[in-house]
Amino acid sequence: MNQADKISMSSGRYDSNRSTPNTRCSGRNMEMWEAFGFRESPYNTNPLKPRREDIELLVGREAEAIELCTQLESATNGVVILSGLPGVGKTSFFNVQQFRLENSMALFGPKLLAARLLCPVLPNDNPRSLALRALDSLCHSIKAWCSLHSRTIPKETQKIGTWLAGTGSSTFTVELPIMGLGGNVVRTIQLPKATEAPIEAIANALAALAAEAVNKLQFDGVFVALENLENLSDDELASMLISFRETLFAIPNVWWVLIGQSGLGSLIQSLDPRVADRTTGSGIEIGPIELEELEHAIALRVSRFRKSSKALSPLTSHTHRHLFEASDGEMRSLFKYSSSICARFVKEMRSNVLKNSTSKPSLPNSRINRNQFEQTLHNAVGEELVNSQIPHLIAENYLNAIVESELKGLFLKPMEETVLEGIGNKGNTYANDYDDFGLCSMQEFSSNYLSKLYEQKLLTCQHEGREVNYRLHGIAKLSHSFGLLRYQVPSSCIIFKFPKQDFETITHHD
Ligand SMILES: Nc1ncnc2c1ncn2[C@@H]1O[C@H](COP(=O)(O)OP(=O)(O)OP(=O)(O)O)[C@@H](O)[C@H]1O
Ligand SMILES: [Mg+2]
Repeated sequence: MNQADKISMSSGRYDSNRSTPNTRCSGRNMEMWEAFGFRESPYNTNPLKPRREDIELLVGREAEAIELCTQLESATNGVVILSGLPGVGKTSFFNVQQFRLENSMALFGPKLLAARLLCPVLPNDNPRSLALRALDSLCHSIKAWCSLHSRTIPKETQKIGTWLAGTGSSTFTVELPIMGLGGNVVRTIQLPKATEAPIEAIANALAALAAEAVNKLQFDGVFVALENLENLSDDELASMLISFRETLFAIPNVWWVLIGQSGLGSLIQSLDPRVADRTTGSGIEIGPIELEELEHAIALRVSRFRKSSKALSPLTSHTHRHLFEASDGEMRSLFKYSSSICARFVKEMRSNVLKNSTSKPSLPNSRINRNQFEQTLHNAVGEELVNSQIPHLIAENYLNAIVESELKGLFLKPMEETVLEGIGNKGNTYANDYDDFGLCSMQEFSSNYLSKLYEQKLLTCQHEGREVNYRLHGIAKLSHSFGLLRYQVPSSCIIFKFPKQDFETITHHD
């Protein structure tokens, strides 16, 4: 069994949905947020889950929801592609729509069993290990739904669950109802050991599960989702899609949802038009939300997680706006840095409380001391906050310091920073822009810089057919917005075409 199989078989370990904004966190973790008047973090970066309490936290996305439901209505099974930049909200969008569809709360569209575990695609995954993981995920979804609704787990699902969990010696028999032939034809199939099963056998087992969800649990079909498809190389992705095309993607009543990087639909189209023929529509691109939607999303979280009805968001809308612009509307990055600013603020307050000679409490070495310390901290935080928010200028200073130290920790070479600075100034770039960066070949630009910086998550890419468009991402984008990237004029003979306007004013740091 390879690493991917092991992950797939150990239930729950690949649950990218596991903890969400309203998952209860341990009390000690929440002390920091209590200082701001919150029970829990309003800036939690986990994706929303397919469950009732999360659906109202999703803002916007009406157009995308209509598109998704329309696609799902157009056939009884198929493949839907969801794409978008990292952290933009793909998983949250899909999970909320799943919940709505499963509970007949969508305005229209079929009643589909939600995929409670989205199968992550890991680097070097092969089609068989992915198929097995998808089967495990569907089995889990059916069992989870039955447990939630106090229903007995249907017979075939139980058998397949046992087969998946077992290290059983040889074969297993399941009854496979064939749909759409004027009633159910029951067929008995032999399954070899899970670890040795070919894709066709896994597809048979998956068909049996889907048929049971329809016949016994009264669903119109089921969702199976694969996410992080960007972890596969183009060749691996093509091979997976071809293997699935006539097997898994053809199973009645199964809706496959492929989630991946921006432009995934166009990449699939360019890799193999035969697979693109199987997909429904050309892909739904999830774009960044609008600034007003961000304000709304934060307001919803503030009212959900605050302890006192008067608490405001820990950061001002001015700070949120800067973060929004600097992160191109990517929610995860925005929440992550909002949270880091708050943590930094509380850390500074703690240091001040300890340093302050007049009110210095003894170091917490007992529960009473600890309570006193927390009380002094709360008072100190209260004094620094303006209208219970961290003033914008203080937040900006902390953000600058956080970004600077993260950037330093990356140990980038001067030319790498120069390339990032150039991409930031230019907005985006392609591998064949190499001469704009003073480099001698597309190959050099692509393998020494673009691919490497992409792997370090400093760039994001969008596929435009076989062409790839790169932009700054995360810490690189923030560093650029703070003018923290080093810039050096390339020594090569070719002119660097996108110098920073205020080059003279940049402070070089070693
Ligand atoms: N429309 C939205 N309304 C409110 N919150 C959202 C919305 N979209 C995303 N979020 C929040 O933004 C964060 C990132 O969302 P999510 O994990 O769904 O992004 P993603 O695109 O799936 O990320 P990745 O590329 O890493 O898989 C989460 O905290 C999520 O709760
Ligand atoms: Mg995701």
